[in-house]
Amino acid sequence: MRPGGPLEGSVPISGAKNSVLKLMAATTLAEGGYVLHNVPRILDVDWMGDLLTSMGMVVTPAGEGSLHIDHRPDLRPEAPYELVERMRASIVVMGPLLARYGRARVAMPGGDDFGPRPIDMHLRALEDLGATFEVAHGYIEARADHLVGARLLLEFPSVGATENALMAAVLAKGTTVIDNAAREPEIADLAAFLTRMGAQIEGAGSPTITIEGVDELNPVEHTVIPDRIEAATFLAAVGIAGGEVTLQGARADHMDMLIQKLGEMGMRISPDTDGIWAFAPRRLRSADVSTLPYPGLATDYKPLLVALLATADGVGIVTENLFSGRFRYIDELVRMGADIRTEGHHAVVRGRPLLSGAPVRAPDIRAGAALVVAALKAEGETEVFDAHHIDRGYDRFVDKLRSLGADVSSA
Ligand code: EPZ
Repeated sequence: MRPGGPLEGSVPISGAKNSVLKLMAATTLAEGGYVLHNVPRILDVDWMGDLLTSMGMVVTPAGEGSLHIDHRPDLRPEAPYELVERMRASIVVMGPLLARYGRARVAMPGGDDFGPRPIDMHLRALEDLGATFEVAHGYIEARADHLVGARLLLEFPSVGATENALMAAVLAKGTTVIDNAAREPEIADLAAFLTRMGAQIEGAGSPTITIEGVDELNPVEHTVIPDRIEAATFLAAVGIAGGEVTLQGARADHMDMLIQKLGEMGMRISPDTDGIWAFAPRRLRSADVSTLPYPGLATDYKPLLVALLATADGVGIVTENLFSGRFRYIDELVRMGADIRTEGHHAVVRGRPLLSGAPVRAPDIRAGAALVVAALKAEGETEVFDAHHIDRGYDRFVDKLRSLGADVSSA
Protein backbone atom coordinates (compact mmCIF):
# COMPACT_ATOMS: atom_id res chain seq x y z
CA MET A 1 0.00 0.00 0.00
CA ARG A 2 1.15 3.53 -0.73
CA PRO A 3 -0.68 6.74 0.06
CA GLY A 4 -3.17 7.75 -2.57
CA GLY A 5 -6.34 9.61 -3.25
CA PRO A 6 -8.51 11.38 -3.77
CA LEU A 7 -10.54 8.29 -4.60
CA GLU A 8 -12.96 8.51 -7.50
CA GLY A 9 -15.46 6.35 -9.34
CA SER A 10 -18.00 3.72 -8.40
CA VAL A 11 -17.65 0.31 -6.80
CA PRO A 12 -20.16 -2.58 -6.43
CA ILE A 13 -21.02 -3.60 -2.87
CA SER A 14 -21.29 -7.37 -2.43
CA GLY A 15 -23.83 -9.38 -0.45
CA ALA A 16 -23.65 -9.28 3.35
CA LYS A 17 -21.34 -11.81 5.03
CA ASN A 18 -23.31 -11.57 8.28
CA SER A 19 -26.52 -12.44 6.48
CA VAL A 20 -25.48 -15.09 3.93
CA LEU A 21 -23.82 -17.28 6.59
CA LYS A 22 -27.11 -17.46 8.53
CA LEU A 23 -29.17 -18.07 5.37
CA MET A 24 -26.86 -20.99 4.57
CA ALA A 25 -27.38 -22.35 8.11
CA ALA A 26 -31.15 -21.99 7.67
CA THR A 27 -31.09 -24.40 4.71
CA THR A 28 -30.67 -27.21 7.28
CA LEU A 29 -34.36 -26.62 8.19
CA ALA A 30 -35.88 -28.34 5.14
CA GLU A 31 -34.81 -30.80 2.45
CA GLY A 32 -34.49 -29.79 -1.22
CA GLY A 33 -32.65 -27.32 -3.46
CA TYR A 34 -32.01 -23.68 -2.51
CA VAL A 35 -30.52 -20.90 -4.62
CA LEU A 36 -28.88 -17.84 -3.06
CA HIS A 37 -28.01 -14.79 -5.17
CA ASN A 38 -25.67 -11.84 -4.44
CA VAL A 39 -23.39 -14.22 -2.52
CA PRO A 40 -20.02 -12.58 -1.71
CA ARG A 41 -16.89 -14.45 -2.82
CA ILE A 42 -15.33 -14.65 0.63
CA LEU A 43 -13.58 -17.33 2.68
CA ASP A 44 -16.31 -17.47 5.33
CA VAL A 45 -18.85 -18.53 2.69
CA ASP A 46 -16.50 -21.33 1.60
CA TRP A 47 -16.12 -22.38 5.24
CA MET A 48 -19.88 -22.44 5.87
CA GLY A 49 -20.13 -24.45 2.65
CA ASP A 50 -17.57 -26.91 4.06
CA LEU A 51 -19.62 -27.23 7.23
CA LEU A 52 -22.85 -28.00 5.32
CA THR A 53 -20.96 -30.43 3.07
CA SER A 54 -19.56 -32.23 6.14
CA MET A 55 -23.19 -32.80 7.22
CA GLY A 56 -24.07 -34.38 3.86
CA MET A 57 -25.38 -31.38 1.90
CA VAL A 58 -24.20 -30.47 -1.60
CA VAL A 59 -23.06 -26.87 -2.13
CA THR A 60 -22.22 -25.79 -5.71
CA PRO A 61 -21.72 -22.48 -7.53
CA ALA A 62 -24.78 -21.55 -9.62
CA GLY A 63 -23.42 -18.82 -11.91
CA GLU A 64 -21.81 -15.44 -11.06
CA GLY A 65 -22.54 -14.56 -7.42
CA SER A 66 -25.01 -17.42 -6.89
CA LEU A 67 -24.90 -20.60 -4.85
CA HIS A 68 -26.97 -23.79 -5.10
CA ILE A 69 -27.43 -25.69 -1.84
CA ASP A 70 -28.96 -29.17 -1.92
CA HIS A 71 -30.23 -30.47 1.42
CA ARG A 72 -30.22 -34.23 0.94
CA PRO A 73 -32.12 -36.65 3.24
CA ASP A 74 -30.32 -38.17 6.28
CA LEU A 75 -28.24 -35.15 7.14
CA ARG A 76 -25.66 -35.68 9.95
CA PRO A 77 -26.54 -32.91 12.44
CA GLU A 78 -22.97 -32.34 13.58
CA ALA A 79 -20.55 -29.37 13.44
CA PRO A 80 -17.00 -30.68 14.00
CA TYR A 81 -14.33 -28.82 15.99
CA GLU A 82 -11.99 -28.17 13.08
CA LEU A 83 -14.77 -26.29 11.21
CA VAL A 84 -16.30 -24.46 14.20
CA GLU A 85 -12.88 -23.49 15.53
CA ARG A 86 -12.05 -21.46 12.43
CA MET A 87 -15.44 -19.68 12.18
CA ARG A 88 -17.55 -18.85 15.28
CA ALA A 89 -20.63 -18.17 13.16
CA SER A 90 -20.93 -21.97 12.77
CA ILE A 91 -22.75 -21.94 16.12
CA VAL A 92 -25.94 -20.79 14.37
CA VAL A 93 -26.54 -24.23 12.92
CA MET A 94 -27.55 -25.42 16.40
CA GLY A 95 -31.05 -23.93 16.46
CA PRO A 96 -32.14 -25.11 12.98
CA LEU A 97 -30.64 -28.61 13.44
CA LEU A 98 -32.44 -29.00 16.77
CA ALA A 99 -35.71 -27.88 15.21
CA ARG A 100 -35.41 -30.13 12.14
CA TYR A 101 -33.65 -33.22 13.59
CA GLY A 102 -34.31 -33.01 17.35
CA ARG A 103 -30.59 -33.14 18.03
CA ALA A 104 -27.30 -31.41 17.22
CA ARG A 105 -23.68 -32.04 18.16
CA VAL A 106 -21.73 -28.81 17.89
CA ALA A 107 -18.15 -28.09 18.97
CA MET A 108 -17.87 -25.39 21.63
CA PRO A 109 -16.75 -22.21 19.90
CA GLY A 110 -13.65 -20.67 21.48
CA GLY A 111 -12.98 -17.04 22.19
CA ASP A 112 -11.15 -14.87 19.66
CA ASP A 113 -9.16 -11.66 19.69
CA PHE A 114 -12.23 -9.74 20.87
CA GLY A 115 -11.90 -11.51 24.23
CA PRO A 116 -14.36 -14.03 25.72
CA ARG A 117 -17.43 -14.66 23.55
CA PRO A 118 -19.87 -16.76 25.59
CA ILE A 119 -22.94 -18.47 24.08
CA ASP A 120 -24.99 -18.58 27.30
CA MET A 121 -27.85 -16.60 25.73
CA HIS A 122 -28.04 -19.02 22.77
CA LEU A 123 -28.29 -21.98 25.12
CA ARG A 124 -30.75 -20.24 27.45
CA ALA A 125 -33.11 -19.37 24.58
CA LEU A 126 -33.03 -22.92 23.16
CA GLU A 127 -33.51 -24.36 26.66
CA ASP A 128 -36.60 -22.14 27.08
CA LEU A 129 -37.95 -23.76 23.90
CA GLY A 130 -37.47 -27.17 25.48
CA ALA A 131 -33.97 -28.28 24.45
CA THR A 132 -31.54 -30.01 26.82
CA PHE A 133 -27.76 -29.75 26.67
CA GLU A 134 -24.79 -31.82 27.74
CA VAL A 135 -21.26 -30.59 27.30
CA ALA A 136 -18.64 -33.32 26.90
CA HIS A 137 -15.20 -33.56 25.25
CA GLY A 138 -15.49 -30.01 23.90
CA TYR A 139 -18.85 -30.63 22.26
CA ILE A 140 -22.38 -29.49 23.04
CA GLU A 141 -24.82 -32.39 22.71
CA ALA A 142 -28.21 -30.76 22.22
CA ARG A 143 -31.50 -32.67 22.24
CA ALA A 144 -35.19 -31.84 21.90
CA ASP A 145 -37.88 -34.43 21.20
CA HIS A 146 -40.04 -31.49 20.25
CA LEU A 147 -39.61 -27.73 20.68
CA VAL A 148 -42.49 -25.78 22.21
CA GLY A 149 -43.06 -22.04 21.70
CA ALA A 150 -42.27 -19.76 24.68
CA ARG A 151 -41.44 -16.17 25.63
CA LEU A 152 -37.69 -15.66 25.32
CA LEU A 153 -36.21 -12.62 27.06
CA LEU A 154 -32.63 -11.97 25.89
CA GLU A 155 -30.36 -10.38 28.48
CA PHE A 156 -28.65 -8.48 25.65
CA PRO A 157 -29.82 -8.04 22.00
CA SER A 158 -27.33 -10.63 20.79
CA VAL A 159 -27.33 -11.12 17.00
CA GLY A 160 -26.33 -14.79 17.16
CA ALA A 161 -28.72 -15.72 19.98
CA THR A 162 -31.64 -14.01 18.19
CA GLU A 163 -30.83 -15.92 14.97
CA ASN A 164 -30.50 -19.31 16.69
CA ALA A 165 -33.77 -18.78 18.57
CA LEU A 166 -35.58 -17.58 15.44
CA MET A 167 -34.46 -20.59 13.38
CA ALA A 168 -35.53 -22.97 16.18
CA ALA A 169 -38.88 -21.30 16.82
CA VAL A 170 -40.13 -21.51 13.21
CA LEU A 171 -40.74 -25.29 13.64
CA ALA A 172 -41.66 -25.21 17.36
CA LYS A 173 -45.23 -25.99 18.47
CA GLY A 174 -47.20 -22.80 19.17
CA THR A 175 -46.13 -19.21 19.61
CA THR A 176 -42.66 -17.88 20.47
CA VAL A 177 -41.97 -14.27 21.40
CA ILE A 178 -38.35 -13.09 21.40
CA ASP A 179 -38.08 -9.98 23.59
CA ASN A 180 -35.05 -7.65 23.52
CA ALA A 181 -34.19 -9.20 20.16
CA ALA A 182 -31.32 -7.94 17.99
CA ARG A 183 -32.54 -5.53 15.28
CA GLU A 184 -29.70 -5.68 12.75
CA PRO A 185 -30.74 -5.64 9.05
CA GLU A 186 -29.29 -9.15 8.74
CA ILE A 187 -31.97 -10.39 11.19
CA ALA A 188 -34.70 -8.99 8.94
CA ASP A 189 -33.04 -10.64 5.92
CA LEU A 190 -33.02 -14.01 7.71
CA ALA A 191 -36.68 -13.56 8.66
CA ALA A 192 -37.53 -12.71 5.02
CA PHE A 193 -35.79 -15.90 3.89
CA LEU A 194 -37.60 -18.04 6.51
CA THR A 195 -40.94 -16.43 5.64
CA ARG A 196 -40.36 -17.30 1.98
CA MET A 197 -39.76 -20.91 3.17
CA GLY A 198 -43.22 -20.84 4.78
CA ALA A 199 -42.48 -19.59 8.30
CA GLN A 200 -44.79 -17.19 10.14
CA ILE A 201 -42.78 -14.31 11.62
CA GLU A 202 -43.71 -10.79 12.69
CA GLY A 203 -41.63 -7.94 14.03
CA ALA A 204 -38.17 -8.85 12.69
CA GLY A 205 -36.02 -5.72 12.88
CA SER A 206 -37.87 -4.57 16.01
CA PRO A 207 -37.08 -5.48 19.66
CA THR A 208 -39.98 -7.97 19.75
CA ILE A 209 -40.27 -10.83 17.26
CA THR A 210 -43.32 -13.14 17.27
CA ILE A 211 -43.16 -16.56 15.57
CA GLU A 212 -46.04 -18.99 14.98
CA GLY A 213 -44.50 -22.44 14.59
CA VAL A 214 -45.38 -24.39 11.43
CA ASP A 215 -45.11 -28.11 10.62
CA GLU A 216 -43.24 -27.80 7.38
CA LEU A 217 -40.91 -25.51 5.46
CA ASN A 218 -39.78 -25.55 1.83
CA PRO A 219 -36.57 -24.71 -0.06
CA VAL A 220 -36.49 -21.32 -1.80
CA GLU A 221 -34.50 -18.84 -3.89
CA HIS A 222 -33.34 -15.58 -2.25
CA THR A 223 -31.13 -12.56 -2.89
CA VAL A 224 -28.81 -11.55 -0.02
CA ILE A 225 -28.94 -7.91 1.20
CA PRO A 226 -25.88 -5.71 0.53
CA ASP A 227 -23.01 -5.69 3.04
CA ARG A 228 -23.26 -2.51 5.14
CA ILE A 229 -19.87 -3.19 6.75
CA GLU A 230 -18.19 -3.43 3.36
CA ALA A 231 -19.98 -0.21 2.34
CA ALA A 232 -18.75 1.41 5.57
CA THR A 233 -15.20 0.37 4.70
CA PHE A 234 -15.33 2.22 1.38
CA LEU A 235 -16.88 5.26 3.07
CA ALA A 236 -13.92 5.23 5.49
CA ALA A 237 -11.48 4.88 2.57
CA VAL A 238 -12.89 7.97 0.83
CA GLY A 239 -13.15 9.71 4.21
CA ILE A 240 -9.41 9.26 4.83
CA ALA A 241 -8.15 9.86 1.28
CA GLY A 242 -10.72 12.43 0.16
CA GLY A 243 -12.68 12.20 -3.07
CA GLU A 244 -16.07 11.27 -4.49
CA VAL A 245 -17.43 7.74 -4.93
CA THR A 246 -20.64 5.81 -5.57
CA LEU A 247 -21.24 2.54 -3.71
CA GLN A 248 -23.40 0.53 -6.10
CA GLY A 249 -26.17 -1.45 -4.43
CA ALA A 250 -25.44 -0.15 -0.90
CA ARG A 251 -28.46 0.60 1.34
CA ALA A 252 -28.26 3.96 3.14
CA ASP A 253 -31.31 3.01 5.24
CA HIS A 254 -29.19 0.25 6.86
CA MET A 255 -26.48 2.73 7.87
CA ASP A 256 -28.26 5.80 9.24
CA MET A 257 -26.17 6.23 12.38
CA LEU A 258 -22.86 5.90 10.54
CA ILE A 259 -23.91 8.32 7.79
CA GLN A 260 -24.93 10.81 10.48
CA LYS A 261 -21.58 10.39 12.29
CA LEU A 262 -19.53 10.79 9.08
CA GLY A 263 -21.63 13.86 8.24
CA GLU A 264 -20.66 15.31 11.62
CA MET A 265 -17.02 14.70 10.64
CA GLY A 266 -17.40 16.62 7.37
CA MET A 267 -18.45 14.06 4.75
CA ARG A 268 -21.42 14.50 2.44
CA ILE A 269 -23.30 11.24 1.91
CA SER A 270 -26.69 10.57 0.36
CA PRO A 271 -28.63 7.69 -1.16
CA ASP A 272 -28.84 7.80 -4.95
CA THR A 273 -30.42 5.67 -7.65
CA ASP A 274 -27.39 3.36 -7.76
CA GLY A 275 -26.86 3.05 -4.02
CA ILE A 276 -24.93 5.59 -1.95
CA TRP A 277 -23.04 8.70 -3.16
CA ALA A 278 -20.26 10.04 -0.91
CA PHE A 279 -17.91 13.02 -1.00
CA ALA A 280 -15.09 13.83 1.43
CA PRO A 281 -12.77 16.83 1.73
CA ARG A 282 -9.00 16.18 2.16
CA ARG A 283 -9.25 16.13 5.98
CA LEU A 284 -12.16 15.34 8.32
CA ARG A 285 -13.00 16.79 11.75
CA SER A 286 -12.75 14.56 14.83
CA ALA A 287 -15.79 13.35 16.73
CA ASP A 288 -16.59 11.04 19.63
CA VAL A 289 -17.74 7.51 18.82
CA SER A 290 -19.62 4.97 20.96
CA THR A 291 -20.60 1.51 19.74
CA LEU A 292 -24.05 0.06 20.45
CA PRO A 293 -26.34 -2.67 19.11
CA TYR A 294 -28.34 -1.69 15.99
CA PRO A 295 -29.61 0.94 15.29
CA GLY A 296 -26.64 2.29 17.26
CA LEU A 297 -23.17 2.59 15.73
CA ALA A 298 -21.99 -0.95 14.94
CA THR A 299 -18.90 -2.29 16.69
CA ASP A 300 -17.76 -3.57 13.26
CA TYR A 301 -17.47 0.03 12.05
CA LYS A 302 -15.25 1.01 14.96
CA PRO A 303 -11.76 -0.01 13.68
CA LEU A 304 -12.56 1.96 10.51
CA LEU A 305 -13.64 5.00 12.53
CA VAL A 306 -10.49 4.84 14.66
CA ALA A 307 -8.39 4.84 11.48
CA LEU A 308 -10.38 7.89 10.28
CA LEU A 309 -9.94 9.68 13.60
CA ALA A 310 -6.19 8.97 13.53
CA THR A 311 -5.86 11.45 10.64
CA ALA A 312 -8.78 13.78 11.42
CA ASP A 313 -8.44 17.30 12.77
CA GLY A 314 -8.83 17.23 16.58
CA VAL A 315 -9.35 14.67 19.37
CA GLY A 316 -11.95 11.89 19.43
CA ILE A 317 -12.98 9.61 22.31
CA VAL A 318 -13.99 6.11 21.26
CA THR A 319 -16.05 3.83 23.54
CA GLU A 320 -16.54 0.12 22.83
CA ASN A 321 -19.70 -1.23 24.48
CA LEU A 322 -19.99 -4.68 22.91
CA PHE A 323 -16.61 -6.46 22.82
CA SER A 324 -14.33 -5.49 25.72
CA GLY A 325 -11.15 -6.65 23.99
CA ARG A 326 -11.74 -5.16 20.56
CA PHE A 327 -8.78 -2.76 20.60
CA ARG A 328 -5.92 -5.05 19.59
CA TYR A 329 -5.32 -3.31 16.24
CA ILE A 330 -4.50 -0.04 18.01
CA ASP A 331 -0.87 -1.07 18.54
CA GLU A 332 -0.60 -1.53 14.77
CA LEU A 333 -2.00 1.97 14.10
CA VAL A 334 0.42 3.39 16.68
CA ARG A 335 3.22 1.60 14.76
CA MET A 336 2.03 3.72 11.78
CA GLY A 337 2.53 6.86 13.84
CA ALA A 338 -1.02 7.31 15.14
CA ASP A 339 -1.47 9.01 18.54
CA ILE A 340 -3.93 6.76 20.39
CA ARG A 341 -4.19 5.95 24.13
CA THR A 342 -6.48 3.26 25.46
CA GLU A 343 -7.96 2.91 28.92
CA GLY A 344 -10.31 0.00 29.54
CA HIS A 345 -12.95 0.11 26.80
CA HIS A 346 -12.11 3.70 25.83
CA ALA A 347 -9.55 5.09 23.39
CA VAL A 348 -8.47 8.71 22.99
CA VAL A 349 -7.42 9.45 19.40
CA ARG A 350 -5.45 12.65 18.63
CA GLY A 351 -5.58 13.14 14.87
CA ARG A 352 -2.41 13.73 12.83
CA PRO A 353 -2.32 15.13 9.24
CA LEU A 354 -0.29 12.15 8.03
CA LEU A 355 0.66 8.67 9.24
CA SER A 356 3.85 6.83 8.29
CA GLY A 357 3.93 3.61 6.31
CA ALA A 358 5.07 0.53 8.30
CA PRO A 359 4.84 -3.28 8.37
CA VAL A 360 1.69 -4.15 10.36
CA ARG A 361 -0.28 -7.32 11.15
CA ALA A 362 -4.04 -7.78 10.74
CA PRO A 363 -5.53 -9.35 13.92
CA ASP A 364 -9.02 -9.88 12.40
CA ILE A 365 -11.31 -9.06 9.44
CA ARG A 366 -12.38 -5.48 10.24
CA ALA A 367 -9.10 -4.44 11.85
CA GLY A 368 -7.26 -5.70 8.77
CA ALA A 369 -9.44 -3.55 6.51
CA ALA A 370 -8.92 -0.56 8.83
CA LEU A 371 -5.12 -0.88 8.51
CA VAL A 372 -5.44 -0.85 4.72
CA VAL A 373 -7.66 2.23 4.93
CA ALA A 374 -5.17 3.97 7.29
CA ALA A 375 -2.37 3.27 4.81
CA LEU A 376 -4.15 5.52 2.29
CA LYS A 377 -2.94 8.43 4.44
CA ALA A 378 0.49 7.08 5.44
CA GLU A 379 3.74 8.32 3.95
CA GLY A 380 5.76 5.62 2.23
CA GLU A 381 4.86 1.95 1.99
CA THR A 382 2.65 -0.07 4.37
CA GLU A 383 2.70 -3.86 4.30
CA VAL A 384 -0.24 -5.62 5.96
CA PHE A 385 0.66 -9.15 7.10
CA ASP A 386 -1.94 -11.87 7.84
CA ALA A 387 -4.14 -10.23 5.21
CA HIS A 388 -5.96 -13.57 4.87
CA HIS A 389 -8.21 -12.26 7.61
CA ILE A 390 -9.45 -9.63 5.17
CA ASP A 391 -10.34 -12.28 2.58
CA ARG A 392 -12.62 -13.85 5.15
CA GLY A 393 -15.02 -10.94 4.93
CA TYR A 394 -14.19 -8.84 1.86
CA ASP A 395 -14.93 -9.79 -1.75
CA ARG A 396 -12.14 -8.58 -4.14
CA PHE A 397 -11.12 -5.80 -1.72
CA VAL A 398 -7.84 -4.90 -3.43
CA ASP A 399 -9.40 -4.85 -6.94
CA LYS A 400 -12.23 -2.62 -5.76
CA LEU A 401 -9.84 -0.17 -4.05
CA ARG A 402 -7.63 -0.08 -7.14
CA SER A 403 -10.69 0.66 -9.31
CA LEU A 404 -11.17 3.82 -7.21
CA GLY A 405 -7.55 4.88 -7.78
CA ALA A 406 -5.87 3.52 -4.64
CA ASP A 407 -2.24 2.41 -4.98
CA VAL A 408 -2.62 -1.02 -3.44
CA SER A 409 -1.54 -4.52 -4.42
CA SER A 410 -1.70 -7.96 -2.87
CA ALA A 411 1.16 -10.44 -2.73
C1 EPZ B 1 -22.33 -10.81 15.16
O1 EPZ B 1 -21.56 -11.57 16.09
C2 EPZ B 1 -21.41 -10.52 13.96
N1 EPZ B 1 -20.94 -11.76 13.41
C3 EPZ B 1 -20.21 -9.69 14.42
O2 EPZ B 1 -19.46 -9.31 13.25
C4 EPZ B 1 -20.69 -8.41 15.07
O3 EPZ B 1 -19.60 -7.73 15.60
C5 EPZ B 1 -21.68 -8.74 16.21
O4 EPZ B 1 -22.77 -9.56 15.74
C6 EPZ B 1 -22.30 -7.50 16.82
O5 EPZ B 1 -22.93 -6.73 15.88
C7 EPZ B 1 -21.71 -12.45 12.55
O6 EPZ B 1 -22.85 -12.11 12.26
C8 EPZ B 1 -21.13 -13.68 11.95
P1 EPZ B 1 -23.53 -10.89 19.50
P2 EPZ B 1 -22.26 -12.30 17.34
O7 EPZ B 1 -24.05 -12.21 19.92
O8 EPZ B 1 -23.58 -12.84 16.92
C9 EPZ B 1 -22.34 -11.00 24.17
C10 EPZ B 1 -17.63 -9.32 11.74
O9 EPZ B 1 -16.49 -8.80 11.72
N2 EPZ B 1 -23.00 -12.33 24.22
O10 EPZ B 1 -24.50 -9.86 19.09
O11 EPZ B 1 -21.26 -13.25 17.89
C11 EPZ B 1 -21.06 -11.01 23.34
O12 EPZ B 1 -19.96 -11.48 24.06
C12 EPZ B 1 -18.17 -9.91 13.06
O13 EPZ B 1 -18.32 -9.41 10.74
C13 EPZ B 1 -23.04 -12.99 25.42
O14 EPZ B 1 -22.55 -12.52 26.45
O15 EPZ B 1 -22.44 -11.07 18.34
C14 EPZ B 1 -20.94 -9.55 22.94
O16 EPZ B 1 -20.36 -8.83 23.97
C15 EPZ B 1 -17.24 -9.69 14.19
N3 EPZ B 1 -23.65 -14.21 25.46
C16 EPZ B 1 -22.39 -9.13 22.75
O17 EPZ B 1 -23.18 -10.08 23.48
C17 EPZ B 1 -24.23 -14.78 24.34
O18 EPZ B 1 -24.76 -15.89 24.41
C18 EPZ B 1 -22.85 -9.08 21.30
O19 EPZ B 1 -22.61 -10.31 20.69
C19 EPZ B 1 -24.16 -14.08 23.11
C20 EPZ B 1 -23.54 -12.84 23.07
